[in-house]
Amino acid sequence: MSVTDITAIYSPAVSWFYDTVAADAVLDAVSDVVADICTAVADGGSVLEVGCGGGQFAHRLISLHPGISVTGIDLSAEQIARANKRSTALPLKDRQRLHFQTASALDIPFAENTFDAVVSIASIKHWPDREKGVHEMVRVLKDRGRLLITETDRSCHLDDARRFARSARLPTPLRLPYLWMFRTYVAGQGLDLDDARRVIAGQDLVDTAVQRVAGTPFLTIAGTRR
Ligand SMILES: C[S@@+](CC[C@H](N)C(=O)[O-])C[C@H]1O[C@@H](n2cnc3c(N)ncnc32)[C@H](O)[C@@H]1O
Repeated sequence: MSVTDITAIYSPAVSWFYDTVAADAVLDAVSDVVADICTAVADGGSVLEVGCGGGQFAHRLISLHPGISVTGIDLSAEQIARANKRSTALPLKDRQRLHFQTASALDIPFAENTFDAVVSIASIKHWPDREKGVHEMVRVLKDRGRLLITETDRSCHLDDARRFARSARLPTPLRLPYLWMFRTYVAGQGLDLDDARRVIAGQDLVDTAVQRVAGTPFLTIAGTRR
């Protein structure tokens, strides 16, 4: 990813920066909301995370739900290597329920009707065809399976962006430039509520909902496979 082309593959520098500075702050803001929809997944069930990055959310999910398995896919082989490396710190019984592989959201390498829940965090803004990616997520969901996507909210409130920038792992003097970068290039290329409604319109989903995550610069897109 370059700052000007949000759909370009993550460069080593960008993936290092995201993993080191931003990932924990993003997950602190939204991972409870995403993990909540996975609580309905019964023991023996499975969750797919699309655009899993360095695997931090998948790790949180595995420890929250000892009965399920989690698969993470990401376009960047470097991010997948980072996720696999991170997994070596887990106990064997957890590692056995976790699988990462390089793949695109636009061509998910699994059969229809495979997963009980399919989620994605802060990735959809990078997809060159967001509707196609959501269509792929819905395709691999089981009937009545849950979909949840979170992304930066282009129309977020300044106070929420400021609070988020303060939580990034950066020395204080760098937080103001980071806030500017976040508002301009990250949230600035994210989705607003209308974009979010557009990407789920016409998908094979019921009970759809688009909403802001209160107190954060993120929104969620949720639905249930028809
Ligand atoms: C901002 S990071 C979020 C990573 C992770 N979800 C997290 O919250 O820590 C966005 C991720 O989406 C991945 N990505 C971008 N385009 C993608 C695509 N077309 N298919 C799958 N992953 C993609 C990037 O490689 C990157 O790891």
